Amino acid sequence: MMKKLLVLAVLGVSALCAADGAKLFGAKCAECHGGDGKEASISGKAIAGDTTALSKLTGYKSGTFGGEQKATMQASLEGLSDDDLKAIAAHIGTLK
Ligand code: HEC
Repeated sequence: MMKKLLVLAVLGVSALCAADGAKLFGAKCAECHGGDGKEASISGKAIAGDTTALSKLTGYKSGTFGGEQKATMQASLEGLSDDDLKAIAAHIGTLK
């Protein structure tokens, strides 16, 4: 019962900010990729301005994309909807 409530709460929160890629990026991605997507020390690559980010993110989620550390990314994407990924990818594309 508690677990179900927790899942609903998490889903509710992500639905609320589904359209806000910048907010999601700040909350879910910035710790490793930097607030501006330029932090390359963890992933080995800066992601700012990557216009192919969406296909990479959906690839991580479905297991068709990724390098040696893909498990890290797969864990980071847990709980994010496809709409969330779209919003985040759009935000990454605007980073310079
Ligand atoms: C715990 C640290 C961590 C977090 C949090 C994290 N990432 Fe990553 N990210 C990585 C690592 C490590 C890699 C390299 C993984 C691999 O080997 O494929 C990576 C790779 C990527 C890549 C592919 C880079 C490339 O071109 O190969 C993208 C795009 C990306 N992350 C976006 C995101 C987004 C968007 C979020 C937030 C939803 C996020 N990451 C959260 C650590 C993280």
